[in-house]
Amino acid sequence: MKKFLIIFTIIDIIVIGVLVYFFIIKKENKHLPDDVFNDNITNLSLDKVKEEYSKEEYFIDENYERYLKYRNKNNVTIKEAITCVNSRIDYEFYTNVVDTDLSKGNLILVNKYNKLSENYVPDLVTMGSDYSRSGLKMQKEAYEHFKDMVDGAKEAGYTIYNISSYRSYSTQNNLYNNYAKRDGQKKADTYSARPGYSEHQTGLASDINTVQDSFEYTKEYKWLKDNSYKYGFILRYPKGKEYITGYQFEPWHYRYVGLDVAKYIYEHDITYEEYYEYFVKNKV
Ligand code: DAL
Ligand code: ZN
Repeated sequence: MKKFLIIFTIIDIIVIGVLVYFFIIKKENKHLPDDVFNDNITNLSLDKVKEEYSKEEYFIDENYERYLKYRNKNNVTIKEAITCVNSRIDYEFYTNVVDTDLSKGNLILVNKYNKLSENYVPDLVTMGSDYSRSGLKMQKEAYEHFKDMVDGAKEAGYTIYNISSYRSYSTQNNLYNNYAKRDGQKKADTYSARPGYSEHQTGLASDINTVQDSFEYTKEYKWLKDNSYKYGFILRYPKGKEYITGYQFEPWHYRYVGLDVAKYIYEHDITYEEYYEYFVKNKV
């Protein structure tokens, strides 16, 4: 008899627990999607949870539910979730793709989620032989700053020059397809952009001196890493940020974004993906 009483009491407690969960706790959180409703937030009111997130640098209100979902699926801090979601890596690469917002001028973003059309060709100038392999082209403002950077490096005792700048859609198409044939698509995707997704098509990027990984160990790279921002260029695919950019570390690839933006990115050690989402996208 006593045994039954204990069993019934336990059942009662479970039933009451389930009812409390559905009618009180769950109701309070009803505007959240089911998959973001988890234990680490049931103890806090929703406002408090949001307050915690919004205290973080680079918090974007519009992305809030995606931060929650991301943390529900991945063991990351709030700060890390904000970095990842703002960089869109809560989506698989090459999914949820949008057209690059060309109104952003020098600040356009081209990556695995933002693509250029096959017909997009920027205004270009031909680079001089002191600065580049012959016949290569770049956007004018970027080129003016590129020349200053080459001259600055020269004064410091280093020789840098452009070996690949603007590449058309069809050039990138040929390059990528050859790499994919040679190494398979999965591998090729780690170092080469699919056509329409290459920053080289913007005319704002430059590969400097070589595309060998060993460039990392040269004095030229050391100089570029700490000085390119003074000329408006950023190291676009840094070491340790591969999970965000979607590309292996490329010590040779620099992107013109202008002096102020380059300085901010250098000083805050963030990727262009992070900068763009917070400071450029949806801003007039
Ligand atoms: N290597 C860079 C990612 C490109 O193909 O644009
Ligand atoms: Zn490049």
